[in-house]
This record gives sequence, structure tokens and C-alpha cells, in this order.
Amino acid sequence: MKVNNKHYRTIWMEGETIRIINQPLLPHKFEILNINNLEELKRAINDMQIRGAGAIGAAAGYGLAQAALKAKDENFFETVISAADEIKHTRPTAQNLFTIINRMLSGIIDKEQNPGDTRKALKAEAERYADYDANACKMIGKFGAELIKDGAKVSTHCNAGWLAFVDWGSALSPVYYAVNEQKKNVFVYVDETRPRCQGSRLTAWELVQEKIPHAIIADNVTGALMWKGEIDLVIVGADRIAANGDVANKIGTYSSAVVAKENGIPFYVAAPSSTIDPDCESGGSIPIEERNQDETLYMFGMDDKGDLSRVRISPAESSALNLGFDVTPAEYIKGIITEKGIFPASKEGISTILRGNHNG
Ligand code: MRU
Repeated sequence: MKVNNKHYRTIWMEGETIRIINQPLLPHKFEILNINNLEELKRAINDMQIRGAGAIGAAAGYGLAQAALKAKDENFFETVISAADEIKHTRPTAQNLFTIINRMLSGIIDKEQNPGDTRKALKAEAERYADYDANACKMIGKFGAELIKDGAKVSTHCNAGWLAFVDWGSALSPVYYAVNEQKKNVFVYVDETRPRCQGSRLTAWELVQEKIPHAIIADNVTGALMWKGEIDLVIVGADRIAANGDVANKIGTYSSAVVAKENGIPFYVAAPSSTIDPDCESGGSIPIEERNQDETLYMFGMDDKGDLSRVRISPAESSALNLGFDVTPAEYIKGIITEKGIFPASKEGISTILRGNHNG
């Protein structure tokens, strides 16, 4: 991805320092944040300085590699295993975090090995995962672009663009591919995505960078546009995909999927295969994060003087319920766009993805 004509990833490592794009400051301020230790890494994931399934996965991988690089030889394995456990407790829904940490724990951490070799192997695995994520998202773009006709109006929810991954993004990658590589005209309807407004803050900012025409709409506008025939296609991301094709994604996705089906609009989910949880039989067993109610009761933004501040938008006496995600049952999903091709959202489709075959 390019910001002011310079190529960036959302996260990378320089020496023992992890560097990320500081997302809560967008779209007002573009800032790179340094992460120097496990506490800072956990805070960055919890507070959504880095967010989005793929980016969280990459942060987890780099975070564990950093913990290993800093751990002393004497208690090396205890320190690294406890760091893995702490990282696993940052956010519960995005499967990518568990995919990479479990792979590092079962494939690399071996108490028979010496700390020096383990440090190198963990760092290499974190880099490999980040490259996998970026390449998989590019392939999602290539496969998904075939679904987008010239002149199409595409609806998306939350941010599943490059900020949510290491590069390219999932749901927005087909749009970028269709516009930049295939020279198609595409218009994007961006759901605002309350309460954290990943759509109006992050997706819209990305689309400005990419010079792609778009309109931000309040979440409750989507249905009306679908009914009026203003939306040709919906593509959203995923935080976890169950073995039967049910999908957990940002809260509000389910409503969009149901109204899309009612209006005969194809609804696709785009995600790398690292988002699939084969141990989760169906959407009902996906853990859904409940976040701090302040995210709903307050808004953060820039005033007319250019100052960033947080304001309360609800009665001081009110409390809020803030569910981070919902589950869209497989029957509402026309297909899952992965790095291996486009597959049905079904038990068979998911096992084909996991077997490595593809229809692309
Ligand atoms: O809570 P977030 O911002 O980390 O949410 C994750 C997401 O970005 C979305 O749910 C997205 O649509 C899929 S993950 C890229």
C-alpha cells in the first residue's frame, strides 16, 4: 500500500523494534508507533492501535518473536511460553492470532533446542507469516476482482482493507485489483461501522489514498440502498470462519447479509485461509468479544480548530452494550474468496480450502 506515494506495510520489524501504523489517529494524523516490549504490544492490540484480523495475527507473531529476542537464556522457555499465553489473551475473536501463535508454539518451541536457534526460528516464522498474509491478500484481490463488473457499486462493512492486514487487505483487495490492475470503474459504499467507525475512519482514508470514488453511509442506510438497487455486490472480511462456513465479522455484518439476500444481491466474504478455525464446528462456538462500553458512549475526532478530542454523546446516566462481532450463517454467503480461489461457504467448501485444492 502507498501512503503519500511511499510504500508501507501496516506492521514490520526493525532489529528488536516492532513498528506499526498507529490506527486510532487516522484519518487525521499518519504516525508510526514503535513497540518495544510485550506490555506495549498487548496494549497496541487491546487498544486497537493495530487492528483487523490479519494485522493482529502479524502483531502476535512479531510480538512473540520480540519476546524471544529479549528473553534471558536462564529462563528462556518459561518467558516465551508465558508471553504466548499473554498474547493469546489480548483479543478473542480473530482466528489469525491463534493460527500464528499455535504454529509457533507447536512447530518451533522445543525445550530440547537452544535459545539462540529458537530466537532465530521464531523471528523467521513471524516474517514468513507477514509475507504469507500480504501475498494471500494479493491473491484474494486477483480472484475477487473477477466478481466485479466495470461500473459496479460495491458495499463493504468495517475495514478489511490494507490497514487490517499486512498489505492489500481482504474485502478491499478485489476492489484495488479491479481498479488498479484491470482499470475498471468501481464505486464503494462504505458503512460507517459504529461504534469504532472503522469504515468512516479507515476504509474511507484508504480509498482516498487509492483515489477510488466512494461514499460513507451510516450503517442504517445500507438496507435502503440495497432495496433501491444501488448496490451490485457486497464484499466483507472475516475475523473467524467456522468449519461449516459460518463467519464472524464486525458487528452489523449479519444485518447486511440478510438484507442482501432478501434483495438478491450477492454477498461474499474475503479472507485468507489463516482465518479458518477447523476446530470451531459452527458460528455458535466462535467467541464474540464484548468491548468497553465507552466506545459506544463517546466519540473521538477532530474539532474545527484541528484539535483531537473525545466527547460524550449519550446521557451521563446511560450505559451501553458493545458487542464487537456477529455471526453470519453460511446460508447468506454466496462464496468465500481466499488466496486459493472462491469456494462455497459450506463444510465441503471449507475442507477443500484446508486441503489446499482450489477452483481459481
Ligand atoms: O475489531 P477490529 O477492528 O479488529 O475488527 C476486525 C475487522 O477489521 C473486521 O471485522 C473486518 O471486517 C474483518 S478482519 C480484517
